[in-house]
Amino acid sequence: MQKSNFIYQILSYPFFYILSQKLMSSLSFNESIVKKYVKKKFINILDVGCGPADILNGLDHINYYGYDINESYINFAKNKYKHKKPKLFCKKFSNKEIKKLPKFDIILLSGLIHHLSDKESNQLLILCKKVLKKRGKLITIDPVFIKNQNPIARLLVQLDRGLNVRDKYNYLKLFKKYFKNCSNKIYIQKFIPYTMFVTCCKN
Ligand SMILES: C[S@@+](CC[C@H](N)C(=O)[O-])C[C@H]1O[C@@H](n2cnc3c(N)ncnc32)[C@H](O)[C@@H]1O
Repeated sequence: MQKSNFIYQILSYPFFYILSQKLMSSLSFNESIVKKYVKKKFINILDVGCGPADILNGLDHINYYGYDINESYINFAKNKYKHKKPKLFCKKFSNKEIKKLPKFDIILLSGLIHHLSDKESNQLLILCKKVLKKRGKLITIDPVFIKNQNPIARLLVQLDRGLNVRDKYNYLKLFKKYFKNCSNKIYIQKFIPYTMFVTCCKN
């Protein structure tokens, strides 16, 4: 679920979404996180809630599958990254879909869990676990509430489109149900003030 008034609807257009991501330095942040985990070529990566798939900017020679329910984002990504031959689907990631998919080395949920209720997150994590290789990694990136948060960061996190921004413990409660090892880190961005929570979950 996400907020859907006029301002938020603007963000469903790739141009405005990417602009907002650039302003918040989210593109470079996400890229740096993903690069930390993608060390090999020709691995299978699944990106659920991929948006305009701009993570592909920094990735080459990978077997990329992206799912998003926003048609404009998927069409934008198909056009911009066709040379990288990504497999892009404008669909909800579901049980039916996973039957057609290979197993993945990396599953990326960047900016997705805070859009989902606990029930939806549980359903998604069960599906992810089914398609994650035994030694694969599930990476999540979401805004987070922390104690003594910079007031501007807290305000911006509260204004996020996602209706389910959580604190660290409530994110981990979800992930630990399905994954034994959930290393995690809170990243505090000074300018523009913002707070992100990153986890790397393994079986
Ligand atoms: C904040 S955006 C993140 C986009 C991109 N991953 C990034 O990090 O910039 C969240 C995306 O999740 C998509 N989304 C929300 N619920 C979804 C669902 N159930 N299945 C697939 N995509 C979903 C939205 O359309 C949106 O593009």
